[in-house]
Formats: sequence, C-alpha cells, structure tokens
Amino acid sequence: MSIPTETLSRFILRSEAEHPEATGELSDLLTSIGVGVKMIGHLVASAGFSGVHGYTGRKNVQGEQTHQLDEDADEILVDLLGSSGHFGSLVSEERDGVLETEAVRNGAKYVVAFDPLDGSSNIGSNIPVGTIFTIFRVRDDERGATQEDFLQQGREVVAAGYSVYGAKTSFVYSAGNGVHGFTLDRTIGEFVLTEESMKMPKRGSIYSVNEGYWEKWSEKLQAFISSLRSQANRMGYAYTGRYVGSLVADFDRTLRKGGIFLHPGNVERPGGKLRLLYECIPLAFIAQQADGCASDGPTEILDILPNDIHERCPFIVGGEEESQWFREEFSDCPCR
Ligand code: AHG
Ligand code: MN
Ligand code: MN
Repeated sequence: MSIPTETLSRFILRSEAEHPEATGELSDLLTSIGVGVKMIGHLVASAGFSGVHGYTGRKNVQGEQTHQLDEDADEILVDLLGSSGHFGSLVSEERDGVLETEAVRNGAKYVVAFDPLDGSSNIGSNIPVGTIFTIFRVRDDERGATQEDFLQQGREVVAAGYSVYGAKTSFVYSAGNGVHGFTLDRTIGEFVLTEESMKMPKRGSIYSVNEGYWEKWSEKLQAFISSLRSQANRMGYAYTGRYVGSLVADFDRTLRKGGIFLHPGNVERPGGKLRLLYECIPLAFIAQQADGCASDGPTEILDILPNDIHERCPFIVGGEEESQWFREEFSDCPCR
C-alpha cells in the first residue's frame, strides 16, 4: 500500500506552480483554512470532555439557537482568516453582517463566507458535522472589499470546500481545477491527499431527503420522491434512503456514491432552509467541478445572484442522470 505523502500545502503549491500568474496567496489562504478546520475538528472531538455540547442560550441572525461549538468554530475562523492578511472581509452564518478585517485597508484580494459548523444540532449524538467555505475575488481593488463582493454568482467562486468531522476528518476543496479530497493524518497533524480529481458517479442508488416534510411538499415533489422509491421508475430500480441531517455528511456521501440529495422548499418555507452563500453555492461549485449538478429547482445554483448574505435557497444536488431526471420533472435547469 503506498503511503500518502502529498500534504495539503504541498498539493496547493504544486497546483499553483501550474499557473504562472499565481501569486501564492491562494496557497496561503487555503492553508489557513486547513489549519482552522484542524482546530475545529479537535474542538468537536473533545467536546464531550469539555462540556461544550450545549446551547449558548443565544440566537444567531437566522433566529436559530446557537451551540457553544457554533460560536467557538466561528471564533477560530474569524481569528485565523481575519489575521491571514488575504481576506478584506468575512461573512459567517453566526454573524449578522459583513466583518471587515484589517487587511481591507491593505488591499486584500479576497473575501470569504463560511458556515463554521454545519449540522450542529447533531453534535450531542456523535453524528458527523463539518465546516463549509467559499472564496470570492474582490471585484474592485481600488475600493477594497465590501458587502457587494459577497453578492456574486457561484460561477465567480475562486475556491470552495468543506470538511467533515466524522470517523476521520476529511477536507474536500476545489480551486476550479477539479475536486480533491484530503484526510487528516493525526500522527503528523497534516491533511494528506487521498482522492485526486473526484467525480460524482453519473448514476447512484441513494436518495436523501427529510421525509418528515412530506405533507408540506407539492404533489409533484411527492410523486418524484415516490418514483425514486419504486422499481418501476425510469432507472428500473428502487433507490434506498439515507439522511444524516448534516448537509456536509449528506453531500459528501452524494459526491462519493452518487444519487440525489434534496432540501427543497415547501408550503411553509418556499424559499428553502439552506443558506445560498455559504452552504448551497460552495457545494454547487464542488458538484459542478465533479460533473454533478445543483439547482434550486428551476435554476442552477451557480447562476443565482444572491441579494442578501444570509439568503436561503431550496437545494437539490445529484449526479448527471438524477439531475437530468429531476430537471425533466421540475425545471429547464441548464445543468447539462
Ligand atoms: P446548520 O447546523 O449550519 O444550521 O445547518 C443545518 C442544516 C444542514 O446541515 C442540514 O442539511 C439541514 O440543516 C437539516 O435540516 P432539517 O432538520 O430540516 O432536515
Ligand atoms: Mn449549515
Ligand atoms: Mn452552521
């Protein structure tokens, strides 16, 4: 068995070396994110001992109860990324507005939006959780980073990725040249390359949706979910159901095994639950780089222009054939 020795930092530098115009900044900022993810992974793993499972008693801008770990993970990323010198401003799920950093006055080229801890309601029961990030280029170097730099379509993403804190700590990212997966080698404290150029299977056999919302779905969506479960469907076999309830875990399985994940809108929440900027766009970017496809139903996620940094969005993501199937039922989504 060959021992993986390509660390995240070496891989990023090797990738940048293939682009003469690269300044090395992207390497630095992705490495900073890698350090933050390692720190958050440690927090999650030790939460049981240090009693930080609990709620803080506060609510975030989304009106959701925050866990102590949500705030601790947020603090780690704000500190590391804010002081990296590469980000003029940051957006976090846990903060109301855009956080300007010292670097904004020194002409930092990038802005970063993140979900510091995704799936945090699962923390107490040792179910995988994760971190999601997306990086945009500041559009006007003269004026410095502003809120406008976060309101870009996903096609403008410079790099995006996520981590999963589970049986292993994994880190998956793309800087526009394919999707690459790393696993934390705890003995050396480094992420090592374990999957290069990941591709979402064209067709899978798993569907993933919270069926607790069944009664709030349209009849059309109910019919689609029923057809996934029936072997009389167009694929000729019944899909099996898997739903973790942590977006990063459900997405990571869909990326690796294929199939379809849905967190659609419903009569109570037609705009969906997941956040466009720091959940849907980064994962849609990864999916597209891995030959998958993500839409909100009618529109490909990467074509949606956010109006607000905390905007929510229905999210359906899957392999080529499941996306084609969904598109023919629900939309003229131009994924392919
Ligand atoms: P977060 O913990 O960052 O608020 O995200 C939770 C999200 C996402 O992880 C998951 O897919 C979804 O909530 C689950 O929602 P339901 O409980 O409505 O299925
Ligand atoms: Mn989340
Ligand atoms: Mn979160």
